[in-house]
Amino acid sequence: MKKTFYVTTPIYYPSGNLHIGHAYTTTLADVVARYKKESGYKVFFLTGSDEHGQKIEQKAKENNLPPKKYVDQIVKNFIDLWKILDIDYDRFIRTTDEDHIFAVKEIFTDLLEKDLIYPSTYKGKYCISCEEFLTVEQMDETFHHTICGKEAIDFEEETYMLRVSKFQKYLQELFETNFLEPEPRKKEMLNNFINNDLEDLSVTRVSFNWGIQINENPKHVIYVWLDALSNYITALGFKSKNDDLLKKFWSKDTEILQIIGKEITRFHSIYWPVMLHSLGLKTPDKLLSHGWILSGDKKMSKSIGNVLDPIEIIKKYSSDALRFYIINNLPTDKDGSFTDELFVESFNNNLANNLGNLISRVSNMIIKYFDGQLPKIDISKHWLIKKGFETIEEYKKLMDVYNMSEATQVVLRLGQECNKFIEDSKPWALEKEGKTDELLEVLSVLQKNIIIISYLLKPILVKTYPGMIEQMGLKPELINFNNIKDNFDYDKIINKLVLFERIK
Ligand code: ME8
Ligand code: MG
Repeated sequence: MKKTFYVTTPIYYPSGNLHIGHAYTTTLADVVARYKKESGYKVFFLTGSDEHGQKIEQKAKENNLPPKKYVDQIVKNFIDLWKILDIDYDRFIRTTDEDHIFAVKEIFTDLLEKDLIYPSTYKGKYCISCEEFLTVEQMDETFHHTICGKEAIDFEEETYMLRVSKFQKYLQELFETNFLEPEPRKKEMLNNFINNDLEDLSVTRVSFNWGIQINENPKHVIYVWLDALSNYITALGFKSKNDDLLKKFWSKDTEILQIIGKEITRFHSIYWPVMLHSLGLKTPDKLLSHGWILSGDKKMSKSIGNVLDPIEIIKKYSSDALRFYIINNLPTDKDGSFTDELFVESFNNNLANNLGNLISRVSNMIIKYFDGQLPKIDISKHWLIKKGFETIEEYKKLMDVYNMSEATQVVLRLGQECNKFIEDSKPWALEKEGKTDELLEVLSVLQKNIIIISYLLKPILVKTYPGMIEQMGLKPELINFNNIKDNFDYDKIINKLVLFERIK
């Protein structure tokens, strides 16, 4: 089994502050990274900012700032957001970082020397907002891009081209594997691009300056997507003197997961594999192309302006509450919604009523009936313990295929079973009737299952996790996948924390 794991998010444009859509992708990556660490993997988690190109140059002009000054202030906000959302990345790469710039120039030279890039001219339609050359199918009758609604410009320039067309067979074979998920995205790419006269790609621009100049001809700056996609390997030291990280995390023994939103699938499933293949590097094991967070029936987006600010949501509720909603309520294979109403409903049902109640009822009863500490007994044969152990296995299976939403729901169902078990077994009646052995068994089974539930939610509930475990009389840092099924020695429970207070 592979024991190194590399996970990446897109690097976002600092053309404005980040919104819930960006928090979505980055939280997915953070949760899977934390889960992999719990599972014993060495993990590298990369995110960052995509700072060059015509769109950013225009935005900076609108703000009367030199591009670098303009992006500096916005990128600072990115980093602040990730901190308060508990995003634990290993590197935040900026495409204006010197090591990245050096390496991208080298990548260009390498491809030029291999005759995979050649000088030419290109004429076509271009969407500045998406930094994308458009096919006829991607525009309406008035040449507006169907994805973002912006009008495409006429593009005619002297440019270097990447020989994408040479790789048609390679891509067709790649698409026979399970590299790209979910399935419908595969068909879309095959029908619209790969099997439909695959064209070479223009990869330099001469009509503006804000980009990485090629070594061979100072008139040309590198197309922002060639620059941006390279980040995933330059961040690990590709084309630099020290490439230890690359050897470790971009190797056949590493599980590589790239998470993106579906609108940039073309770049990541076609151009990026072509680049990697040309550079002699492996294709990622999985490209997870998730759906959109909608606002009404439109994609929530910076350019439309219909966005929700994650910082406000974190301040109003909490970072754990936001992380939970993202993972539980927004399965990656569909588009999803984010409204205050849905958010509060999910929090109250799942965290306050289901888990919060369970933990407070059980800890209260342990304190009241057993002075905070249950004598140790063997509960391994109990049906609800078996259920708890099965939940661990089911959860792992789902997490291992990055189905984090269902994995979370499996855990929540165990919580519901536990609540139902309290209703059915009526511990308060057992106490009245003096059935101490039965009472002890019921509470022991519940205590153990709460530990399981809490541990499985640890990658999501970063801030609340320690309190959940302490409330059950254990030390949070002592629990791991190897000992989770053990019969623990619990400390005496004294304090009553209020976890997941209901939102009114
Ligand atoms: O495309 N729903 O950057 P970007 C879900 N710089 N995810 C969303 C979303 C929404 N409504 N809105 C944004 C770029 N995202 C390029 C990427 S990578 C080499 C270069 C997330 O700032 C989602 O991950 O437009 C999407 O792909 C990404 O933000 C786009 O961010
Ligand atoms: Mg975008």
